Amino acid sequence: MGMERQVEMNKAVRQHLEMADFFGGFLVKGKRANDYSPLQATEAGEVRSTPETAEIQPMSQSGKATTRDNPDATNVLEEIAAEVRKCCKCGLGSTRTHGVPGEGNPNARLMFVGEAPGADEDAQGRPFVGRAGQLLDKIVVACGLKRQDVFIGNILKCRPPDNRDPRPDEIISCLPYLQQQIEAIKPEIIVALGAHAARTLLDTNKSIGQLRGHFEEYYPGLGLPPIKLMATYHPAYILRNYTPDTRRKVWEDMKKVVAELGLPVPE
Ligand code: URA
Repeated sequence: MGMERQVEMNKAVRQHLEMADFFGGFLVKGKRANDYSPLQATEAGEVRSTPETAEIQPMSQSGKATTRDNPDATNVLEEIAAEVRKCCKCGLGSTRTHGVPGEGNPNARLMFVGEAPGADEDAQGRPFVGRAGQLLDKIVVACGLKRQDVFIGNILKCRPPDNRDPRPDEIISCLPYLQQQIEAIKPEIIVALGAHAARTLLDTNKSIGQLRGHFEEYYPGLGLPPIKLMATYHPAYILRNYTPDTRRKVWEDMKKVVAELGLPVPE
């Protein structure tokens, strides 16, 4: 193994260990963050409270965590996924291996939106399954949730070659899929991961540094109420800039999200 490759490997292992420590070690009322899930989806897709949930209520003023008030979401999401898998609206349709529609709980209160699938996602047809995805999973768990509690999607549903930035024409072609997913799920909060997701959803050119750290509003379709949006750094950016400052900022952002959902805020 070449010296450079060895250094990269060592860095990846060190980051992995630190990541587990940083995002896995938060205590929530005496439990480790990954010991329980406040929102648990049954096999039927119904969201019900766990015994632990009783301890940590209230989940939300609307009670949405324990009821299913948009039963059509599952079908709509499946229809969108089928469209995405055969989509050829832009050039990425001919370079991708798999379209990556997104996945998760149709009744999710919390939705994460990334930029575009990478190589691992393109190979598997699932969002955030590579290294950035592993970090996202840890962030979700550190928030006291499980991956199956939330919905994870992307601005682009197909991988741009060599992971280049999304192009405006690609975003214009693809964005309606995400907009329809948001309208179907009606999440209470969207977390936009990175500048591309945040700028696209907020229709702004501001930097991620300006956008993160506070709630903005995302406006879904006509007549629908705005949805709170928290922008934060993309997990891939965190991995590239693995500093205490970056991790602290992301964690501060996520604690605001957890608090806004009415869940116990990890220490
Ligand atoms: N990065 C993203 O923005 N999305 C994915 O699905 C994976 C990595």
